[in-house]
Amino acid sequence: MSSSGEAVKAGNEVGNEARKTICEVSADGGIVCGTVFWSATQSEVCLRGLKGKRVLVTGGASGIGAATAARFLEEGAVVCVLDRDANGRKKITAELPALAGVLAADVSNLEEVKAACGEAVRLMGGVDVLINNAGVSIRHNFLDITPEEWDKVIAVNLTGVFYMAQAAARHMMERGSGVILQTASTNGVMGYPFYADYNATKAGVIELTKSMALELAPKIRVCAVAPGYVLTPMQRAEYTDEMLAEVNRKIPLRRHAQPEEIAALFAFLASDDAQNITGHVYTCDGGETAGGLASR
Ligand SMILES: NC(=O)c1ccc[n+]([C@@H]2O[C@H](COP(=O)([O-])OP(=O)(O)OC[C@H]3O[C@@H](n4cnc5c(N)ncnc54)[C@H](O)[C@@H]3O)[C@@H](O)[C@H]2O)c1
Repeated sequence: MSSSGEAVKAGNEVGNEARKTICEVSADGGIVCGTVFWSATQSEVCLRGLKGKRVLVTGGASGIGAATAARFLEEGAVVCVLDRDANGRKKITAELPALAGVLAADVSNLEEVKAACGEAVRLMGGVDVLINNAGVSIRHNFLDITPEEWDKVIAVNLTGVFYMAQAAARHMMERGSGVILQTASTNGVMGYPFYADYNATKAGVIELTKSMALELAPKIRVCAVAPGYVLTPMQRAEYTDEMLAEVNRKIPLRRHAQPEEIAALFAFLASDDAQNITGHVYTCDGGETAGGLASR
């Protein structure tokens, strides 16, 4: 296990800058999105109760996890990320120097999970919020899924989520409070071709979330976020530009979500404004699943 070894820095040390996604309709009818930075006072980016919260983000070196780590730092939280990818860890350490720690662990390895959770507690003095987000996907036909591929997707997306959730929940129960937020997917709610194993894990995450919420209340709140299509490295790896445009056409808001928009949902659900919310799944998909088949 490695860690950035940085002393814990609370506050908005990414600078008084906040990130915002701007999307425009291009000449060919497509949607072009980009992230801009603007100068903001702390009060402009503050959600209630996040300042000083100790947050652990799994899969925090890329995509949704990296945007979520950045958002919590902007909110004045103390943040550790955990990721199994060494290059990703190096990159996020450089991009977010205010991180309290960058931990190496594979969420599907129980010993590594236990060690990483212990290290996060040591570095931050405790964990108040777990963003249980690490995941993988493989695009393949149901008839072609090998036992090895099936095992891999289940190991990371479901067993890994369970390992992390249980380790964090045991710590939070001892302390008397906490919030666990898990990344599901609209794929866990509806059927989608080419991702049968992935979809099964995300449906599993949703049921795990609801069951945990019932057992861990009233001390710990547990929710899931179900993103639709989000423009991240995971998505880019499996979709050509033509495929992305085709997807955008069937989404009512005509675009993928940006990782920062999922991060915003996590930030709200972890905040004190969401104190009466537990056991539910929150979708951010540009309206894609609102109409069921009618929107396809
Ligand atoms: N991108 C989308 O369209 C989309 C939609 C719905 C849900 N999701 C979910 O969001 C989550 C984040 O995905 P993303 O799009 O940001 O992908 P990403 O590939 O950009 O980031 C995933 C991160 O998780 C890390 N990771 C993977 N397996 C790991 C493991 N076993 N242990 C520790 N770290 C591991 C990777 O190294 C990577 O840094 C995943 O759970 C994914 O299923 C993504």
